[in-house]
Amino acid sequence: MFTRTLLTFMLVIGTQLTLFQNEVFARDSRGDVKRSMSKPEFRGGIVFKHYCVLCHGERGDGQARASRLHGIANLVIGRNSDEYNEKIIRQGGAALNKSDFMPPWGDELTNEQLTDVLAYIKGISNPVRRGEAVFKTNCILCHGVNADGKGRASVLYDPPPANLTKSDKNDEYKTLIITLGGAAMGRSEFMPIWGEQLTEQEISDVVAYLRTVLK
Ligand code: HEC
Ligand code: HEC
Repeated sequence: MFTRTLLTFMLVIGTQLTLFQNEVFARDSRGDVKRSMSKPEFRGGIVFKHYCVLCHGERGDGQARASRLHGIANLVIGRNSDEYNEKIIRQGGAALNKSDFMPPWGDELTNEQLTDVLAYIKGISNPVRRGEAVFKTNCILCHGVNADGKGRASVLYDPPPANLTKSDKNDEYKTLIITLGGAAMGRSEFMPIWGEQLTEQEISDVVAYLRTVLK
């Protein structure tokens, strides 16, 4: 009798555990986040923002605050071979008989940062690729690596972070809620205000990326 009760008890607990685990597994795992965040092209966005935007502009098109200082120098990052890009980034413009306004970065950046920024500049003229880097480095803990609302921290919030693959909001609304945060839009205060961390360009890029995740 006791054994049967115990067995039933274990069966019930077992089922509950399985249900619980399925629920947990539906959410991003630590590995999902790590895999996503460690992609060179996403990390490279951060390197580019810190060291390169000032001259080359956020779109790599030379529209930047400092560009006027460099007179006739062409600050557009074109479609070059990886070898050429790596060489000019490591050794600077002067080593290639180009403008010496392009500094050598070989001593400044780690090899990893160099690899990352090289990967990032391949997609620099594409808003969706820039926006994906913004999303993957700022939003996935809540909204999930797949933008489906299943981020690792999503359980902490009620209402939960929106499933952005099913959003019925237009680009204007998304731009506003990202810039001003949830509270300003009468939504959850846990949707942060990004207007101070991210530039208008980054917000417009992330909105372009969100258009591509809609299912
Ligand atoms: C102080 C301004 C300045 C900064 C900061 C700067 N660059 Fe440059 N960069 C230049 C200039 C000027 C050129 C153009 C050289 C020429 O063609 O004469 C250039 C050229 C380049 C080119 C070659 C573009 C092409 O299509 O020929 C690449 C690639 C590049 N830079 C990447 C970077 C990266 C990556 C960073 C950040 C780690 C960076 N630059 C930071 C000024 C800068
Ligand atoms: C700390 C968690 C958190 C982070 C980080 C976060 N969000 Fe949110 N976000 C939320 C929550 C919670 C909501 C839902 C608000 C509600 O329903 O009231 C939300 C809602 C949204 C919405 C509205 C979607 C709709 O269809 O209504 C957009 C767009 C959005 N977030 C974009 C972003 C972007 C882009 C980033 C990164 C730059 C980001 N969020 C980072 C928590 C977060």
